[in-house]
Amino acid sequence: MCTCHSELFSKRRLAFLEAVAKSGEDAICVFPAAPVFTRNNDVEHEYRQDSDLFYLTGFAEPGSVLVMDAKTKQSTYFVRPRDKDREIWDGPRFGVDGVKEHFGASEAFTIDKLAEELPKLLAGHRRLYYRLGVSRPMDDKVLEALDRTRARGRLGVTWPVEIVDPGTILHEMRLFKGGEDIEAMRKAADITAKAHLAAMGRTKPGMHEYQVEALLLETFRAHGSERPAYGSIVGSGTNATILHYRANNRKMGDGELLLIDAGCEYDYYAADVTRTFPVSGTFSKEQEAIYDLVLEAQEAGIAKSVKGSSLEQVHGACVDVITRGLVRLGLLQGEPEQLIKDEAYKPFFMHKTSHWLGMDVHDVGSYHTGGKARPLEPGMVLTVEPGIYIGAEYDKVPAEWRGIGVRIEDDILVTAGEPDNLTRAIPKTVDDLKRAHAAA
Ligand code: GLY
Ligand code: MN
Ligand code: MN
Repeated sequence: MCTCHSELFSKRRLAFLEAVAKSGEDAICVFPAAPVFTRNNDVEHEYRQDSDLFYLTGFAEPGSVLVMDAKTKQSTYFVRPRDKDREIWDGPRFGVDGVKEHFGASEAFTIDKLAEELPKLLAGHRRLYYRLGVSRPMDDKVLEALDRTRARGRLGVTWPVEIVDPGTILHEMRLFKGGEDIEAMRKAADITAKAHLAAMGRTKPGMHEYQVEALLLETFRAHGSERPAYGSIVGSGTNATILHYRANNRKMGDGELLLIDAGCEYDYYAADVTRTFPVSGTFSKEQEAIYDLVLEAQEAGIAKSVKGSSLEQVHGACVDVITRGLVRLGLLQGEPEQLIKDEAYKPFFMHKTSHWLGMDVHDVGSYHTGGKARPLEPGMVLTVEPGIYIGAEYDKVPAEWRGIGVRIEDDILVTAGEPDNLTRAIPKTVDDLKRAHAAA
């Protein structure tokens, strides 16, 4: 989201500050940029702004801190100074004048002034909204400023006596996606669909997993995605049974399944999609039976992704279908109800079905309210991603079932009516997968 969205960001800052003010205490709020991590010597890991700071400002530069006053609604930015030499090497910086002009800063300082100015900004406020524990060096700076403010108590200065996690308010805002968020998520979903289709059309026995990963990354970037939303998982054969497989270096063979869990980020919003299909285009009987069962479970989970339901109910629907199906296939023995109570499905389906999706792939927002599963509401986006994973060494089932891993994952927007599957364009029935594979 570019600076042309500056109105959107100022609306968000105001909505956040109004919610803070409503909590009854006078407050000051501090949001630091994501830290820069050195890879080696003078080379850094790829930088991505902290999602909270970006959500509130659209400002992507490292070395910055946003301070907002809930009473005056003023936003003070601390930013890197303009620097002719550094800008030749690393690109332009907005600097103090730039953040005032383009990012709605009421006041701005260079970041080296933080130790001097932050104590003044904290003074007179009773509550500090700051997320402790994310960055110890930043915690030190904020706590030092707090201490310096307290030290002026003799002069009649008051200081924050409570530190509150801003996530209690901001992450609730981020959980509910508005028009611009959904627009970006649809774009991330569309690009991700192109990437999965390219992978389906080009995968052949004899190729390496990394060649498929390369296709995904190429498609993401070719369509304007900034980066993958997480490390792409491209697991063939028994690698498909490893939940977060990342090596992506195996040569794929005929008769194997390929599990691809990959999604791009667009305008700081993520897609998160898994598809599983045969490397050669044709399922074996056992692979197809497992695949159809996961698909049936996933569709039951999506059908439950409606207003008033909950992630627990979505998961419950998948567990129910998977357990009954495993009994039908002879892979579990017993009464489905009892097997569900005993969690007998867990050696096959050991993770939960859903998580929130948004700026972060495992997005923010609480999963429970008042100790209970939280009801789904329009504007929330969740994944529905059941799977069955039968390890190569799992000797409680006949050999022909071993080494099969299948997961199917879509991104679902909860609406006032039917679930809106943002990633529905990506084939997932056995017939559609065959067509997509033959399309190359
Ligand atoms: N790609 C990580 C997940 O599906 O949760
Ligand atoms: Mn995923
Ligand atoms: Mn996921």
